[in-house]
Amino acid sequence: MKKKLIAGNWKMNGSLAANVALLQALQAGGANASSDMAVCVPGVYLSQVAQLLQGSTISLGAQDVSSFDSGAYTGETSAGMLREFGVRYAIVGHSERRQYHGETDAVVAMKTQKALAAGITPIVCVGETLAEREAGKTEEVVKRQLAAVIHANGHCISEIVVAYEPVWAIGTGKTATPAQAQEVHAVLRAQLLAATPQADRVHILYGGSMNAANAAELLAQKDIDGGLVGGASLKAPDFLAIAAAA
Ligand code: 13P
Repeated sequence: MKKKLIAGNWKMNGSLAANVALLQALQAGGANASSDMAVCVPGVYLSQVAQLLQGSTISLGAQDVSSFDSGAYTGETSAGMLREFGVRYAIVGHSERRQYHGETDAVVAMKTQKALAAGITPIVCVGETLAEREAGKTEEVVKRQLAAVIHANGHCISEIVVAYEPVWAIGTGKTATPAQAQEVHAVLRAQLLAATPQADRVHILYGGSMNAANAAELLAQKDIDGGLVGGASLKAPDFLAIAAAA
């Protein structure tokens, strides 16, 4: 069985001092044999966190990557630049980027391609809104989102990580039930399997109000290979407890 991956998405949180305290506490908590840990931090802290994680088993991640290689794209950071700072993972297509920055499926597919080309593992986020779930469109939405990425990344697709994050569960304290999550994860696995014989290698993470109390049951589901954790990743004891639950 593959190791679970527990990735923290700090979102726009942290400070130089808070990052030191959090990472020291995580490292003091020790490595966990059953799971790999990663932290996806704001871009300005990549250099600091890369240094703090030297010699650690915790991997470094970014929260976004440009769909361009270089040039006149004010405010953007390329995959090559991230790589220079030892970034191993990059979240792409988070629902907050789709919602507040107008990222389309096509842009997410390009970002995925740029990350892969630079040797960074993209964590591709998919997920339906509450209105889409209530309209019975969950499967249609997540399949459309993942299809764009599969289409643009063909033979490399087994190198990605997928995160299923129902938008209605993000930061709301409302978690998908393990059965609800597993149902969507199985759909995504089947879609990957149609694209690559190596679909079993792909980690499919669940994200959305995952915490120390609900993690074990979610992570016990057949197709849930880890978690993408927001709020609870900012508190060392909670994040460590989630990793231990894996
Ligand atoms: P919360 O864990 O805070 O709900 O956030 C989930 C998320 O969006 C992770 O990317």
